[in-house]
Amino acid sequence: MTRRPYIVGNWKMHGTRAMLSEARAIDRAAQRHMKVEVALAPPYTLIHPIHREAEQIGVGAQDCHHMDGGAHTGDISAAMIADAGAKFVILGHSERRTEHSEGDARVRAKAEAALAAGLRIIMCCGESAETRESGKAVAFVKRQLKASLPPADQLPADIGDKLTVAYEPIWAIGTGNAATTDDIAEMHGAIRALLVELFGEEHGRDVRIIYGGSVKPENAAAIFAVPDVGGALVGGASLTADSFMGIALAAS
Ligand code: G3H
Repeated sequence: MTRRPYIVGNWKMHGTRAMLSEARAIDRAAQRHMKVEVALAPPYTLIHPIHREAEQIGVGAQDCHHMDGGAHTGDISAAMIADAGAKFVILGHSERRTEHSEGDARVRAKAEAALAAGLRIIMCCGESAETRESGKAVAFVKRQLKASLPPADQLPADIGDKLTVAYEPIWAIGTGNAATTDDIAEMHGAIRALLVELFGEEHGRDVRIIYGGSVKPENAAAIFAVPDVGGALVGGASLTADSFMGIALAAS
């Protein structure tokens, strides 16, 4: 199945209720770009307010805990974010892996919890600058992704709907230096081959692989023209409707 390009805004730790007007503008604009699936992952505090008003965009979270509930001060479960209106969750983002010491096993446990709660997942992977310079980026990302994903028999039948992979080279995030289209093509091709190996030809080809790391309206069209790029995970440029929808327009 050919899926629509998936353009996801990750607001990270940005956004108070004052940003709801921006979310409204994104939602209105998304109604004019039906060939693209547009989604926003705001901070937890804005999931429900955006969900209540959104008519077109999907709303998701940037993380969730791996357990259903209990004495975990400051944490939030997959069922709680689903209850607030989230339809998906971003997992394994490099900022979580680095700042919260999340290893592959923990990321995988979160993925299992999220799927059990009925959420779609966006599984992030990506190498550091040092790993890229050492020439081991492809091997690193394949190993990281394989260890972070639940095994095929634990994934639902509609894998292509429930799972998206986001390739985000750490050195490209927030730097203004996106990966080259050649590097993106090489990595997305390797990720596609891994997905086919893990989930079989049909499901492995059905999963979207999106790119993240300094995507802007100016470079989006070139990135979307790369084979096997199924959309973008956008940080800084998703904070205003103008720039975010400029990226969505490049995908439509
Ligand atoms: O989740 C989004 C990515 O980390 C990309 O962030 O677009 O600000 O580089 P960026």
